[in-house]
Amino acid sequence: ENKDTLKGKKIMITAGPTYEKIDPVRFVGNYSSGKMGFAMAEECRRRGAEVTLISGPVGIECSKKIKRINVESCNEMYNAAVTEFKDCHAAILCAAVADFRPISIAENKIKREKDNLNIQLCPTNDIAAELGRIKTDEQILVGFALETNNEEINAKSKLERKNLDFIVLNSTRNEGTTFRSNDNQIEIITKNEIKTFEKKNKKYVAADIIDELTKLFTEKNRS
Ligand code: C5P
Repeated sequence: ENKDTLKGKKIMITAGPTYEKIDPVRFVGNYSSGKMGFAMAEECRRRGAEVTLISGPVGIECSKKIKRINVESCNEMYNAAVTEFKDCHAAILCAAVADFRPISIAENKIKREKDNLNIQLCPTNDIAAELGRIKTDEQILVGFALETNNEEINAKSKLERKNLDFIVLNSTRNEGTTFRSNDNQIEIITKNEIKTFEKKNKKYVAADIIDELTKLFTEKNRS
């Protein structure tokens, strides 16, 4: 089913968390497992697309037919994404990229003998915003928004600010979804509408998202 509907399309997907080093043995990170991004990569592949998966540190494998690029920090993911995006028809940015990183990485392991420790953080590069800036009329850019509150308003503002074609919203308020879960419950927000979906396994959520992407490809071909 759906086999070959994405044949000839080159799609880039970012997935997983990023780790921002504090010292040689510690990092700032988050709970992202990579499951959602990997599920979309496999779904695109099943439908015949050529897939590049840029993954932060995760504990999962992907099919050999997917070109996987492993990265650790936001900076590494940024460089890989900007390079790979140039000859892609679409990119889906599902990675939970760190928004802040330590301003410097301590050369040696920070010792315990201190009353307190302040680590100063600075903003990381926004990969989505940069790809939104360089994207051509032929390219499709999809983002994710994981929110804890004011979900739809925040997601809509990201859609516009980062010049995305649509954004997938998931909320930490829905139990048994998002980080590390096998299930997810999403809303797809486009410029003109909001589509809501049931809670389901990330594999089927991936199919819903890729259906939307396929629809956009068809619309672009028509115009
Ligand atoms: O602003 P926020 O991080 O919530 O935006 C989420 C979207 O932006 C996701 O698609 C995420 O992958 C992407 N993003 C990114 N680079 C960052 C931060 C977020 O690509 N540094």
